[in-house]
Amino acid sequence: METCGSSWLWKRFLLSSLFLFVFSTIGSSSHQTSSAIRFKLAQAADAERQVMMRAGAPFKVALFADLHFGEDAWTDWGPLQDVNSINVMNTVLHHETPDFVIYLGDVITANNIMIENASLYWDQATSPARNRGIPWASVFGNHDDAPFQWPLDWFSAPGIPPIHCPQTSASCSGEDECSFRGTGRLELMKNEIKYNASFSSYGPRNLWPSVSNYVLQVSSPDDPQSPVAFLYFLDSGGGSYPEVISSGQAEWFLKKSEEINADSRVPEIIFWHIPSKAYKAVAPKFGIRKPCVGSINKEKVAAQEGEMGIMDLLVKRTSVKAVFVGHDHGLDWCCPYKKLWLCYARHTGYGGYGNWPRGARILEITHNPFSLRSWIRMEDGNVHSEVVLS
Ligand SMILES: *[C@@H]1O[C@H](CO)[C@@H](O)[C@H](O)[C@H]1NC(C)=O
Ligand SMILES: *[C@@H]1O[C@H](CO)[C@@H](O)[C@H](O)[C@H]1NC(C)=O
Repeated sequence: METCGSSWLWKRFLLSSLFLFVFSTIGSSSHQTSSAIRFKLAQAADAERQVMMRAGAPFKVALFADLHFGEDAWTDWGPLQDVNSINVMNTVLHHETPDFVIYLGDVITANNIMIENASLYWDQATSPARNRGIPWASVFGNHDDAPFQWPLDWFSAPGIPPIHCPQTSASCSGEDECSFRGTGRLELMKNEIKYNASFSSYGPRNLWPSVSNYVLQVSSPDDPQSPVAFLYFLDSGGGSYPEVISSGQAEWFLKKSEEINADSRVPEIIFWHIPSKAYKAVAPKFGIRKPCVGSINKEKVAAQEGEMGIMDLLVKRTSVKAVFVGHDHGLDWCCPYKKLWLCYARHTGYGGYGNWPRGARILEITHNPFSLRSWIRMEDGNVHSEVVLS
């Protein structure tokens, strides 16, 4: 009997989720699972959330950029790409055993997602870190909360694939379930931070609709009171509103950094998704030559729509060491810009445009003395583009 909710699509989705779950559980090893215990949260009302380093070890971060989960679920191609992306992440985590993971935006391709709740895909994307007990944080990209875009070719022969909508409640109208309205930033965030290992945050209300604006403090167990570094996360927009870091966000950064790091003694590292216009100014023209370091320079910088002051603030602070972005899948370089570095991550996902081999940028922070090193770990295990950023 055809009930109002049953569908091949939904069943296939559940099957592929189960598959991914089994898949991503394989390879998680016990010593990594226990690492979750090393990370204590500063629960005090005003304190920035703290990420604790391991005693006597550098702090290592893996950047997973542009995973683009949830594409083309109505074909075989789409779900296979997500399995491949899980493989890339597991390979990188296996080789690097990082202390922390940053999901650098475009975690999902919401404009392709035909289910009501895109968090189901978001959760698949964060499962490799979660299954290993590795804490993580995320920022939003321009695809994460976009509404469904009906493919044009569905309106020619052979027409719209036989989509039925999942049964999620007693109601059989299917209206909500079939709206493909997209899952908003706040809802995605709410569903992510249910996990204790997520260090992401809604950010200050007055900055909404820009959501993922927050700062984390990296601390050493030798002296948890004196920060080793601050990691700033900013929402560079896109999807449901323009691709920009607003003057409100710039002001927030200024206020926050002056409040918690007035004398600029603690190094600051910045993460967002869409490159700012300054990336265009430093982009290598043809091959990547010193002082830039990287391996692919295959497209133009697709920058934010406007510059509302954040870059001026960043270059003025001697404590800001580097900015990391994703978005342009064919770029993986780091170039100096005034006193800081502008870096791309590396396209990690099989979703999204481009067939350049996948990988992840790794950051390594040492303490006493402070240093920031970075390299790219590829899905075949190779390492390249090592650079000292501070
Ligand atoms: C959406 O999915 C997330 C993650 O699986 C879940 O926690 C949440 O309850 C779901 N929300 C709704 C409205 O179904
Ligand atoms: C998160 O931590 C709290 C308090 O330690 C615990 O009660 C809860 O079960 C944890 N949740 C998950 C999903 O691990």
